[in-house]
Amino acid sequence: MPHQETVLVTGGAGFVGSHCVAELVARGYSVVVFDNLQQGHRAAVPAEAELVEGDLASPATLTRLFSAFRFDAILHFASNSLVGESMRNPHLYLHDNVVNALNLVQFAADNGVRRFVLSSTANLFGMPDRMPIDENTEIDPGSPYGESKFMIERILHWADKVHGMHSACLRYFNAAGAHPDGHLGEDHDPETHLIPLVLDVAAGKRPHIEIFGDDYPTHDGTCIRDYIHVSDLADAHIRVLSALDHRSCRYNLGNGRGYTVREVIETARRVTGRDIAVKVGARRPGDPPVLIASSERIRRDLGWDPRFPDLETIIRHAWDWRCRNPGGYESGPVRELVAVG
Ligand code: UFG
Repeated sequence: MPHQETVLVTGGAGFVGSHCVAELVARGYSVVVFDNLQQGHRAAVPAEAELVEGDLASPATLTRLFSAFRFDAILHFASNSLVGESMRNPHLYLHDNVVNALNLVQFAADNGVRRFVLSSTANLFGMPDRMPIDENTEIDPGSPYGESKFMIERILHWADKVHGMHSACLRYFNAAGAHPDGHLGEDHDPETHLIPLVLDVAAGKRPHIEIFGDDYPTHDGTCIRDYIHVSDLADAHIRVLSALDHRSCRYNLGNGRGYTVREVIETARRVTGRDIAVKVGARRPGDPPVLIASSERIRRDLGWDPRFPDLETIIRHAWDWRCRNPGGYESGPVRELVAVG
């Protein structure tokens, strides 16, 4: 880095965002987290980063933010991100996610920011029948959530053409795990993701895990997903930041290996040494039977090579976090906010 670069991280108090913030801080970047703290956690933001509480929907707040700091790059995580909720309330996604991103991209362009990283999703690809899913797979979003991310990818495409703002769109498969040192982890309310729910059962917080359908065309009848460690996602963000000096890019991020819901539960039994009760329920509408990434492109272009590819390590790190923070971030230290203007 020629000078200490300042990076704005929207949603930096959330699950993937906070792991990226930790990595940026460790690598010497100056970091400003912008988060409305509806899903994010104050305690997930390290003392070395500035935390600004605010909403992307407010142009007045963005005006103050961009007057208070000069950003070299933006990592954009803040968004509504539940597939199921987006099927019930598409407006929240097709309007809020998109308008918030439009506001941010406009402010970025007006203030000369030339590098932008978007937290995108495998939901862009809906239910493809060919695996693994690479960047040439047809885009056919599986929900208003996926559609909103695709619309933002298109906004960034035009921000490049018109303003010369380079962007990276990172399509995560199933983000999971926790920081290997146990100080950051997954804490959603409500929690809908498989691994934290399974660990809730192991911890005695829920009576059982419901398997959403066991009649899929897979070897044990349950859905197959590609779980990717959150620290490996963070590493990918840092790598694309430097690549963005030269050009825009789109990358699918997964391990290229799928596990069924039953295999996840079995691995969690091994890792925790606890009993995990299971009930088989109906399919969850919109769930594709199989999603497996091909991440060959980012491996080839940027030498990205996941450090924690195996499911057992991913679940062990999530379990370590759970054991050290049984109440999630709730009981963590409270920190001061930075006022902008
Ligand atoms: N599942 C259960 N029981 C549960 C929860 C989940 O059986 O209680 C199953 C699901 O049916 C699915 C698998 O576990 O087959 C994983 O489900 P998650 O809800 O953890 O994750 P999804 O694959 O549905 O969604 C994730 C991200 C989305 C992203 C999507 C990309 O959470 O943001 O991957 O396809 F859009």
